[in-house]
Amino acid sequence: MLSWTFRTAVSQTARQIRSLHKTAVRSGGGGALFVHRDTADNNPDTPFEFTPENLQRIEAIIKNYPEGHKQAATIPVLDLAQRQHGWLPISAMNKVAEVLEVPPMRVYEVATFYTMFLRQPVGKYHIQICTTTPCMLCNSDSILEAIKNKLGIKVGETTPDKMFSLIEVECLGACVNAPMVQINDNYYEDLLPEDIEQIIDELRAGNVPPPGPRNGRFSCEPAGGLTSLTEPPPGPGFGVRPDL
Ligand code: FES
Repeated sequence: MLSWTFRTAVSQTARQIRSLHKTAVRSGGGGALFVHRDTADNNPDTPFEFTPENLQRIEAIIKNYPEGHKQAATIPVLDLAQRQHGWLPISAMNKVAEVLEVPPMRVYEVATFYTMFLRQPVGKYHIQICTTTPCMLCNSDSILEAIKNKLGIKVGETTPDKMFSLIEVECLGACVNAPMVQINDNYYEDLLPEDIEQIIDELRAGNVPPPGPRNGRFSCEPAGGLTSLTEPPPGPGFGVRPDL
């Protein structure tokens, strides 16, 4: 039988453990990460054609690779399809396979491997919040709560007006500016709850706020100011003996 002290310690520790959020869009039931099931808005007949401008871009992309290696363009062409449509229905993947002259399975393999490819519809502004350890230690939970409260949605959901979707992701490589979120192509860093609320308000109003740190520092310079390279470099020849 557990002693009272031990049980109290266990329950206190349990309270200190951060809540785990399940990312429904990417790990949804039935292995949604890998498996495609036809739905009303995502099936081989979902309309998708590349625009003439994008067909020109594809031609230019393919020229970056040696002749006979069109398949090497799979990632940039998938990215183009996603940018055009907002996400990647299976019909878009099939079209990518057609223009690259590869079996559709070669394209599915890539699209299911990289989580940057969105195989389900998302909002106009796709918010990806990082909750990996460095961001978590800088209180990414408070940012997540602020987003959920502001938008009235949970992780993996999209607002009814299709403006915002929210997803939880692993490290986005901006740990030094934690906590941070990625919204479409932009990183918003060094966030406080009020920052993310302001960002959402601006997006709703039709403005895209400037990306980067919100605490005033430049890029990922030290928060307390520079500690090195504080004066112009002396240039070549510095320290060379004039008699040599
Ligand atoms: S842990 Fe959040 S960006 Fe690396």
